[in-house]
Amino acid sequence: MAPNIGVVVMAAGKGTRMHSDSPKVLRAILGEPMLWYVYDQLEGLFGERVHTVVGFGASEVEAAFPDQAGRFILQEPQLGTGHALQCAWKHVVTAGYEYLLVVNGDTPLVPASLYAELAERALACQADLACITLTLAMPNAFGRVLRHPDGSVAAVIEAKDFDPKLHGASAGEVNAGIYFLKTSAIGPLLGQLTNDNKSHEYYVTDLIGLAATARLTVAAYNFGDAPELLGINSPLDLVGAEELLRERIVAGWQEGGVIVRQASSVRIGPKATIAPGVEITGPTEIYGETRIAGGVTVASHCLLQDCVIAEGARLHNFSHCENALVGQACTVGPYGRLRPGSVLEDGAHVGNFVEVKKSVLHRGVKANHLSYLGDAEIGAGTNIGAGTITCNYDGVNKHKTSIGERAFIGSNTALVAPVTVGDGALVAAGSVITKDVPDGALAIGRARQETKPRRKIRP
Ligand code: UD1
Ligand code: CA
Repeated sequence: MAPNIGVVVMAAGKGTRMHSDSPKVLRAILGEPMLWYVYDQLEGLFGERVHTVVGFGASEVEAAFPDQAGRFILQEPQLGTGHALQCAWKHVVTAGYEYLLVVNGDTPLVPASLYAELAERALACQADLACITLTLAMPNAFGRVLRHPDGSVAAVIEAKDFDPKLHGASAGEVNAGIYFLKTSAIGPLLGQLTNDNKSHEYYVTDLIGLAATARLTVAAYNFGDAPELLGINSPLDLVGAEELLRERIVAGWQEGGVIVRQASSVRIGPKATIAPGVEITGPTEIYGETRIAGGVTVASHCLLQDCVIAEGARLHNFSHCENALVGQACTVGPYGRLRPGSVLEDGAHVGNFVEVKKSVLHRGVKANHLSYLGDAEIGAGTNIGAGTITCNYDGVNKHKTSIGERAFIGSNTALVAPVTVGDGALVAAGSVITKDVPDGALAIGRARQETKPRRKIRP
């Protein structure tokens, strides 16, 4: 029978060294919270057996991961990683887990394969407690691993408490913060944790020394200096991890046939999908659930967040698109801005300095210059002249503008919503349209020009 393994992710800490008011595990790496990556790797292996200890900013963390609802455990106050595990323990016992994988929530780049390997090796040698270690030239703030002369693990001493006079010289071996334990063996030791240390915290790492002293089977598997196993504590750690992941993701798409120019300045989030043959030039950022179909080009300085870009569309330089749908063979920009709810049907053109918000531009609509189109529906084949503005906001409410098919909106038109312009209608340049325009009509709403003879100019 497969072993019954549960997971506890420790994510209750503030992350003081991050100098931020929001919980550390929510800090973004390529557009996704750090904790998302931890779940992404754990879920395939452990599904709904993943539980998370939250504390600092608990409601924010819980709100960020609605699919984890019901599996959060509150640690209040946060008295250290050992205390986090103590808080989780009654849930572990209730769930009847025979084994437990305990992971720090601030190590987002640990791959699923490593969790699986730790579990396999620990089970194979019937370890009561197993952990992963690294060997670093600069052990910095990591817990130091102490071994007996025969190589067996004696304890992990936190950096603050480490004293070479007391503990001997460090060999540079440090604790990665990933543990696998047998619940029946380790449960009785949890009550023995004390906060008798420099931080006055209950350390989960003290379990290693306690287990070794109790002559339980303790194993520590060394993975050298694997950078993806490093915990993220500071802004520098954060951008270091982000850069490592960025390079990997971009290289992955390049190998998949995507042409990436200026690759070192292209940032692609982990959820994006890009078809082979797409051309992307950096600097460009592509985040969230963005899907880019074949034949698309994304020029430099674009930002795409949760967008769907259909075949053959061209995003010119400096186009920013969020929650937008761009149809086949559409063009956007340069300097196009598609805000949430923008839908460009096939062949629509949105040109320079055009902002679109919550609007549908049906097939072949052209809005090529300097416009704001908000809360609008624009029929197929309609031309929107330069400088057209939908006046959608009256200071309190937003109102809709509807324009029919094959209409022509002259330059510098203000469409004061709510307003409807019919199919085939023509609005003269410079008009302020406050009343509906029927199908096929011509509307002119501007001051009449008067032209008078000039007065004599004195020489
Ligand atoms: C921890 C280990 C250290 C190891 C390092 C690896 C301890 C005492 N030390 O140190 O040996 O080298 O990880 O990255 O465990 N957390 C809680 N509740 C708390 C405190 C922390 O849930 O009361 C969570 C944090 O949110 C974080 C994780 O536990 O995700 C680790 O805490 P952190 O303070 O970052 O520990 P380190 O000092 O990095
Ligand atoms: Ca840490």
